[in-house]
Amino acid sequence: MESSLPSTQILDFGETAEGENEAKSYKEMISTFPRVRGWSYYEGFWYNSMFLEGLMSAQDNFIPQSTDIFITSCPKTGTTWLKSLTFAICTRTRLSGSSTSSLLTKMPHDCVPLLEYDLAQNPIKRDCAVPLVSTHVPYSSLPKSIVSSCCKMIYICRDAKDAFVSLWYFVAELERSRNMEPLSLEEAFELFCNGISSYGPYWDHVLGYWRASLEFPEKILFLTYEEMKEDTTAHVKKLAEFMGCSFTLEEEEEGEVQKIISMCSFEKLSNLEVNKNGKHRADTSFASKNSVFFRKGEIGDWANNLTPEMGARLDDIMEQKLKGSGLKLPR
Ligand code: A3P
Repeated sequence: MESSLPSTQILDFGETAEGENEAKSYKEMISTFPRVRGWSYYEGFWYNSMFLEGLMSAQDNFIPQSTDIFITSCPKTGTTWLKSLTFAICTRTRLSGSSTSSLLTKMPHDCVPLLEYDLAQNPIKRDCAVPLVSTHVPYSSLPKSIVSSCCKMIYICRDAKDAFVSLWYFVAELERSRNMEPLSLEEAFELFCNGISSYGPYWDHVLGYWRASLEFPEKILFLTYEEMKEDTTAHVKKLAEFMGCSFTLEEEEEGEVQKIISMCSFEKLSNLEVNKNGKHRADTSFASKNSVFFRKGEIGDWANNLTPEMGARLDDIMEQKLKGSGLKLPR
């Protein structure tokens, strides 16, 4: 079965002959991997080829800074929100008071680079003063240089039904913008339930980080979108503490926590000019409107899109897969 999704695309690994050869050999390797629709299967997970090339390059070449903090997630689970919050938290003193100014003019994904895309393309093109790197790579496939480092990681996940619905809208919108026929909701759901989705199986992605967070609690903070929504204030403080830049009493009294929360809220970010009309990766073949990253920002929207039977099926799958792990995802 071949895909209507974007297939292998050229990644610019630099202008050197070595970089070109490396990109070519990843492409050759990927062409031998099992493939369903647009996804290639590698180390137990399904990837869009472009991100897989980046991951393989990162596995071979990426060296983190010792101060790096990794923002990790499966797509569509709250990455944009978590990036904006962590960025605002850790840049607040550097920007002395105008902590959120970059978020007013740059979309959150342009503030925090993606390991398997931005840094694979150009490892040196990052603001080293901002110790944040994001990735959707499952824990078991992270570059060894990251896992063996003392770098911290923050993982966010979400009810599988909402993650699926969010992903379906996102991919469908991207495909329509490229004049491609999107998968129907039913086809995409069937694939998702069989573990086939971007960086899926979803449950294995969640379990990988969950187990790692139990083993290394001081290194990995495991969060859910739902608990962040329920008590954002407590979580913003927790994030700051975990990142090693707790709010001072003075900052709390001055309302710094609330300022960051309202700056990073769905309402605020989604109504900014840059996020309404700007473009992400504008000069690449993978360009998208920034607005696709902001849809509804609600819990439980799955019920407006899936039948109760579909919802129950995915709940059952998640329950079975997470059984014995000690993890209960919101549903
Ligand atoms: P919905 O599609 O359910 O609305 P990711 O950032 O991992 O791509 O996840 C996207 C989901 O997060 C989308 O969910 C999107 O609307 C929501 N989102 C984006 N920015 C947000 C914010 N600032 N606060 C809360 N949710 C946000």
